[in-house]
Amino acid sequence: MGLFDGKVAVVTGAGRGIGREEALLLGAEGASVVVNDLGGAPTGEGEDQRPARQVVDEITAGGGTAVANHDDVSTWDGAAALVAQAVNDLGGLDVVINNAGILRDRMSFNMDEADWDAVIAVHVKGHFAVSRFAAAHWRALAKETGQPVRAAIVNTASESGLYGNAAQVNYAAAKAGIAAMTLVMARELERIGVRVNAIAPVARTRLTEDVAGDHMKAAEGELDRFHPANVAAVAGWLASDLAAGISGQVVKVQGGQVQLLEGWRPLTEATSDKPWTVDSVEAVRDQLLAKADGSVPPFFFGPPPADRPAYPAPAGNG
Ligand SMILES: NC(=O)c1ccc[n+]([C@@H]2O[C@H](COP(=O)([O-])OP(=O)(O)OC[C@H]3O[C@@H](n4cnc5c(N)ncnc54)[C@H](O)[C@@H]3O)[C@@H](O)[C@H]2O)c1
Repeated sequence: MGLFDGKVAVVTGAGRGIGREEALLLGAEGASVVVNDLGGAPTGEGEDQRPARQVVDEITAGGGTAVANHDDVSTWDGAAALVAQAVNDLGGLDVVINNAGILRDRMSFNMDEADWDAVIAVHVKGHFAVSRFAAAHWRALAKETGQPVRAAIVNTASESGLYGNAAQVNYAAAKAGIAAMTLVMARELERIGVRVNAIAPVARTRLTEDVAGDHMKAAEGELDRFHPANVAAVAGWLASDLAAGISGQVVKVQGGQVQLLEGWRPLTEATSDKPWTVDSVEAVRDQLLAKADGSVPPFFFGPPPADRPAYPAPAGNG
């Protein structure tokens, strides 16, 4: 008995890295999987059908069911075709894992239009377009049967988008957008029985190995904390009925650690019964900044730099 017996799943960007492990897990747990991957470079250029095919071969060699899909999820037509392939060729759709992603890191002042557009397209539009066609399918099904469906979307955010990371303004904006999209679609789809959550993963893949170097490699006998299979386990859990009732959440995962992340919440408050003026805002600054600790959660690893400013900053000539 597998956790996903009789279910159909779409995993985007499943030819490599985290998506590959997610597709393998779902396939091993009995899902029929559409393994989507365009097969381009880490920066998004080019196409290659082999990575998706290899994952399909691995799933089928293990006795599972999988088909390859090479559509570009950042196109409306590609996303529609991907969802249609699941429904028409595999007989339905129960799980969508939006994972496809690229990086084009540049400092904001050096970023050009193409690098901005490509990253926003693959992540934001790529997550949305697939979710939109899946949601339309589920809504039609719920209307037809008069019953809520039991389906799940797992999106892929990033600590970069939640905490900020220099040189990733396009990627961070996209990942923050994906976190917001998760909240909106969780609210919209709850009544038809669709749960929508996101993960914020950290794993050793071609996107991180250049930046992280040996940091992400495990010594012999040590827990391989950055193996992407660690991430797939949490995505698989969120996608499964074990996570029934859990929706609108963002879960950070790297091997050995999972965290439920809390989003924007009021931290402090100051009130006034008169219209705010610049001076009256300045007058409540200590109240407003009373709980701000000035530290940003570390991105990836390592302590924050010692020279990071502390808040509340002293009032005065700054
Ligand atoms: N690796 C990490 O530590 C980490 C951290 C935070 C977030 N993420 C996110 O996890 C996801 C997976 O990243 P990864 O590290 O496994 O990278 P990866 O490069 O190994 O895998 C991403 C896959 O997406 C595919 N892809 C890219 N654009 C596509 C498109 N338009 N249509 C279809 N497929 C496309 C690529 O061909 C590639 O196989 C991404 O969304 C990434 O931003 C990764």
